[in-house]
This record gives sequence, structure tokens and C-alpha cells, in this order.
Amino acid sequence: MIRRGIILAGGTGTRLKPLTDVVCKQLLPVYDKPMLHYPLATLMLLGIKEILIISTPKDLPAIKANLGDGSDYGISLQYAEQKEPRGLPDAFIIGADFIGQEPVCLILGDNILYWGQLKMVWGDCLNLTEGAYIVGARTRNPEQFGVIEYDTDNNVLSIEEKPENPKSSIAAIGLYFYDNQVVKLARELEPSPRGELEITDLNNVYLKAGKLKATFLSRGSTWLDAGTVTSLMDASNFFKIIEDRQGIKICCLEEVAFNMKYITKEQLRKKATQYQKSQYGEYLIKLLY
Ligand code: DAU
Repeated sequence: MIRRGIILAGGTGTRLKPLTDVVCKQLLPVYDKPMLHYPLATLMLLGIKEILIISTPKDLPAIKANLGDGSDYGISLQYAEQKEPRGLPDAFIIGADFIGQEPVCLILGDNILYWGQLKMVWGDCLNLTEGAYIVGARTRNPEQFGVIEYDTDNNVLSIEEKPENPKSSIAAIGLYFYDNQVVKLARELEPSPRGELEITDLNNVYLKAGKLKATFLSRGSTWLDAGTVTSLMDASNFFKIIEDRQGIKICCLEEVAFNMKYITKEQLRKKATQYQKSQYGEYLIKLLY
């Protein structure tokens, strides 16, 4: 069972400037909460409670100030710096000690998921002991992502990073599950022509060894990548519509923690009091009754 997760939340946020001159991309609001809360809630909902957050030396203090050691949510949060954006697989090199001898899940701090049936989709990924799992989602602009080619039995045939002529409209989203070999394999990668270690190269190592599997988001689920001002706004509107219509919050950390039994009612009450006078706090208070 995968118990450990890494959130990679560094980078320069170039496409979101001047917003990211003020605050890092992953702390920008997506409707009523910071972007980072969505991938964190995803890990928590997957049952992952040991989490390492990696960000830049400049942005890490603000992230730590927001989330602390995780005890408010009944989880353990650790932090590590990535001094330069050396690529996504760098997360496993930086996180080697944190990973230890276990398998690990990686989620990107700007990848936002909204799903229907959680456990049905992720069961196999979470039980992984050997190999790797990637997650595919249909998109209109696959050429901007890692693209998964697959056969009728959902076997991965190829995975290419930002191809000019995509072989499918399925993008590899920023959620990955790896066995413990990942640390060694990440260390053996060479930087690509753009000077970064590529997650697609890492996935191709698993593919060549016959150890790469893919699972796909169903129609009832959505993957949002809030990487530009427009997609950030779209993501906010998406959650505003759902939350307003249903009177529930999506990826509310305190609610997730409470429902997953990571925190007690008393702990929830404490957070609700802390946020009182805000709409968010009022929502937490309602959860108590
Ligand atoms: O979003 C999914 C896509 O993420 C995948 O489909 C691609 O295969 C994968 O390469 C990646 O593509 P991007 O080019 O969109 O990744 P980007 O360089 O934008 O980095 C993704 C996030 O990770 C971004 O918020 C910044 C952060 N990051 C990135 C790098 C390279 C880091 O924290 N450290 C890094 O070294």
C-alpha cells in the first residue's frame, strides 16, 4: 500500500506573472482556497498521510506558514527545497530519504482533480509493489502534455512529451505512482535538450521494462491544469459552480481530514473557530452538527 506522497510545488510560475511576483503559483486562489489544497486533499483522500512538499527556497516559508506540520489535518507534512527547477524526477532525488524503502506517489502542486468514484479508479495504483502507474485524461490540447498511446486493453504503447503530432488525445496528468526503484532510476536520468530531467523519460524506462501501467479518468471526473490566467479562472469558476449549487466544498482540507477520521470533532471545532467570520469558517461550523 502506498503510504507516502510527494507534492512538487516549485517552478517559477512564469506564465502567471505578475501574479506570481506576489505569491507562488501553488498558493494562488482557486475559488475559495489556495491551489495547493486541491492536490493535498487528493493525497489525503487516497489515504496518504506521510507527505513531503517540495518548493523553492523563496516560496517554501509561505507554504509552511499555511500548512504547518500537518497536525491540523491529522497528517505529517515535511518540507524540502528545490533550488533550481531541474525537472519533475528531481522530486525523487530530493525526496530519497523521505521515500526510504517504500513505493511513492507524486502529484504536481498545480494539478487539480475532481472525480466521481475515488477508490474504484485508484485501488490498483495504491496497491502497487512493482512498476509504475500513470494516469491519463482526455484533453483538447494533448500536444501541451505527455501523451499516452494505448491499445484496446488500455496497455501503454508509447508515451511522448509534448509531441507535435500526438498519437492520442490522452494526456498523462501530474499524478504518478512508482515502486521504490524510482529513486535509483531518477538518479540515472540525463537532462533533456531543454535541460531538465523529464518524467516522460522516467516513465519510458518503466515502459521498456514492461512495468508501466495506466489508468484513465472516467467521464465523470475532471482534471484541471491551472497553469495560465485563463485556466486558473476556469478552475475557479468550475469549483464555484459546483460548490454554490450543491452547498458543499470540494477539497476542503478540514472536511476531508474529518471524514477520513484523521482528526476529531474537537480538532475540527478548533479550525472552525480560527476561521470564524469567514464563509469557509461557517461551512466548517456546519460540519460539526
Ligand atoms: O501537468 C501534467 C504535465 O506535467 C505532464 O503531462 C507532462 O508530461 C510533464 O512533463 C509536466 O509538463 P509541464 O511542462 O506542464 O511541466 P512544468 O514544467 O510546467 O511543471 C509542472 C509543475 O511542476 C509546475 O507547477 C512547476 C513544477 N515544477 C516543475 C519543474 C520542472 C517544479 O516544482 N520543479 C521543477 O523542476
